[in-house]
Amino acid sequence: MEALRIYTEKPYCLQGEVTISGAKNAVLPAIAACLLTEDRVELTNVPLVKDVQTMLTLVGELGASYSLDENQKTLSLEVKRIKSTQAPYKLVRAMRASILVLGPLLARSGQATVALPGGCAIGTRPVDLHISGLQKLGANLKIEHGYIIAEAKRLKGTEIEFEKKTVTGTENLVMAACLAKGETILKNCALEPEVVNLCELLVRMGAKIDGIGEETLRITGTRELSGAEHRIIPDRIEAGTFLVASALTRGDLILKEVEPKQVEAVIDKLVMAGSQVELPGRNIVRIKGGEDLKPLDITTAPYPGFPTDMQAQFMVLMTQANGRSIITETIFDRRFAHANELLRLGAWIEIEGDKAIIRGKTPLSGAEVMATDLRASACLVLAGLIATGQTTINEIEHLDRGYEKIEEKLRHLGVRIERFTNNNNNNNKKAEVKS
Ligand code: UD1
Repeated sequence: MEALRIYTEKPYCLQGEVTISGAKNAVLPAIAACLLTEDRVELTNVPLVKDVQTMLTLVGELGASYSLDENQKTLSLEVKRIKSTQAPYKLVRAMRASILVLGPLLARSGQATVALPGGCAIGTRPVDLHISGLQKLGANLKIEHGYIIAEAKRLKGTEIEFEKKTVTGTENLVMAACLAKGETILKNCALEPEVVNLCELLVRMGAKIDGIGEETLRITGTRELSGAEHRIIPDRIEAGTFLVASALTRGDLILKEVEPKQVEAVIDKLVMAGSQVELPGRNIVRIKGGEDLKPLDITTAPYPGFPTDMQAQFMVLMTQANGRSIITETIFDRRFAHANELLRLGAWIEIEGDKAIIRGKTPLSGAEVMATDLRASACLVLAGLIATGQTTINEIEHLDRGYEKIEEKLRHLGVRIERFTNNNNNNNKKAEVKS
């Protein structure tokens, strides 16, 4: 098992510049969108993270040929012909976003068999809204042996209102509607910048979409889409994680390649907690952490609200605020697994239903902890920056799914951090250093 160890002789004060990578949650639907055309699509600012590899393996099985230039961060993809219409459980289980191939596969080839993702570490995550939406577009759909089996000669435009905002649900239906016959009206769509970025790619591919960035999208279907070039937006969650790192360590960080508007909800909370934030140039954010952190009340909400993907990172920040903070998680149930690990480092946190109550300030001391999901891993890395001694974070493959070169970026800011294979999770005597 891969692990990370952070050595903290005295608490860090992070200083310097960090360049934010492309957004994982924007590149995954963009790769799925390539299934909609036989032409070549070129994506730039592609983050080099594990989930991209998983998505490429999946579209590769479905018929895509691709080349990824790791230096240029450019991905060139072409799906001349759909070779298979099956997304196997192995890949869907590894990454829930695999469900994004359902809409494009069905729209282009008339059939799709995609494994049901099932539950995950952050709670139950149904896909009923993806399924019912495709049914409304005329698909015949059944669930058998853990698979969604969908068929439709050609999808037919209609009006669909999402009961609840869903990011990948909106993306799946927009992609499907692009090749449907006639007009599709989607109401109560997710407003996340990643949804907008996908719609912009689809328009470049020839799709007709009105209302991009709004809750109602009108899509006029076309027979086929063509190739395009498209830039992936910056990762607002990676940016948010580094913003918290600066606030937590009373640092002074300059983040480059950020879209400030997209991290507004996070910046607002950091300013309330005592940080100073400046926007010295286009796509640049400078943040200086304040001396005394103030407690916060945070409620997660769909964009432009406070992102659930930043909740875990703020929990560690709040362990260092003077007073009582409350985090209310409204998007996912069971998304507090990181709290137990923070307790092992010395935090005071109580969970009551959808609320986490954090009392600070508590000193943290390094220990061995376990990453349970992607954002929980980021929270533990942040904790390691202020926990005295050594913090060992096990099972960091979760972190690799969504953060590009996080150790390199942190090392560049002065952090002593190592990756190694931990042969014994509870006793690190056999640890073999890798990088
Ligand atoms: C996406 C993001 C994930 C983020 C989440 C919420 C990607 C690849 N992942 O996940 O990082 O944490 O948005 O911002 O973009 N729901 C249903 N039925 C459905 C679909 C969703 O009930 O068919 C519920 C979910 O259980 C959840 C809420 O809707 O309570 C929002 O989930 P959704 O926006 O769909 O999350 P994902 O798209 O899976």
